[in-house]
Amino acid sequence: MKAVLIRGDGIGPEISEAVVKIFEAAKADIQWVEAEAGERCYKNHNSPLPPETLALIKELKFALKGPLTTPIGNSTANNFKSANLAMRQALDLYANLRPIKSIPAVKSRYENIDIVIVRENTEGLYAGLEHNINPDIAVSLKIASRKACERIGRYAFEFAKSNARKKVTAVHKANIIKLTDGLMLECFRKIAADYPEIIYEEKIVDAVCMSLVMNPEQFDVIVTENLYGDILSDLCAGLIGGLGIAPSANIGENCQVFEAIHGSAPDIAGKGLANPTALLLAAISMLKQMGQIPCADKIMAATLKTLSDNKYTTKDLGGNSSTMEFANHIANNLAA
Ligand code: NAI
Repeated sequence: MKAVLIRGDGIGPEISEAVVKIFEAAKADIQWVEAEAGERCYKNHNSPLPPETLALIKELKFALKGPLTTPIGNSTANNFKSANLAMRQALDLYANLRPIKSIPAVKSRYENIDIVIVRENTEGLYAGLEHNINPDIAVSLKIASRKACERIGRYAFEFAKSNARKKVTAVHKANIIKLTDGLMLECFRKIAADYPEIIYEEKIVDAVCMSLVMNPEQFDVIVTENLYGDILSDLCAGLIGGLGIAPSANIGENCQVFEAIHGSAPDIAGKGLANPTALLLAAISMLKQMGQIPCADKIMAATLKTLSDNKYTTKDLGGNSSTMEFANHIANNLAA
């Protein structure tokens, strides 16, 4: 089966290569078709997201994407809008699913965390509607449409139902941001009424940050708008041992793009220090969606076995292995 591979920027090529090697060793039925996006692509082709890349994802329906660098602010010479946001909007990848699950072998402050963040992926403050009123005043518009709120709300409850989850928490700031977050809650309340077997609660985002740090076990499925979902998922990754083990999936009606939660980590790029687990877990989810469940389970088992032997892990998890050494240990454990 064919799937798109975008290796991406920074640590992207290193962790993508690790995943490719592990999938080869597992004899996964995947033929990678490479495409480009991000900062390196911008330098090579003067576009961070060429139309050919979008067309290929539309055609093949499944893509694995390394992280893409987006220059900060508006003052750099190679200023361009985020290729991640553009891709999510262009392909209407409306749901960003971010599972945060403790891995017993990975030491962290908490055990038994199992939270799924369902983040609206196309609107909010990430709609990209910004302008300067004058050189001293800038405006960013936060967008919430009934269609997008209903769609993400329905997705979250359907996800909860089909995965035997008990509770959906809507995270908002409707006490201050009354219209957009208010519309979101109005939509969620209507949808919640169709799922009486699932507990529905609403919590304000700042209080949720504190509760996640103090008592994260109380959360099950979280549904929220774009910015809160982005911030909360990095916080949640910290609860289970860091960004190196947190995967993500961008889901639309017609195609799906799997990636890590983390970014291109320029501080460690090219040094063999990156942990490929987050991208690997994303790739395993993709394999499951493609129907290759036994192979996905086999790779997962080898990954967990490798993580349980701390000396074979990457530095972020307390080990000494390089990205490729860690990947090779996983490949060796496939046969075990
Ligand atoms: P980051 O997630 O790249 O890095 C934050 C920290 O986590 C760094 O100290 C980094 O070394 C560490 N880290 C991240 N992934 C790791 C891994 N696999 N193994 C070990 N350590 C890891 O966030 P940052 O530095 O804020 O962003 C860097 C660039 O990435 C920016 O240009 C940003 O726009 C982009 N970005 C892209 C994303 C995507 O493609 N989906 C998501 C988030 C950021």
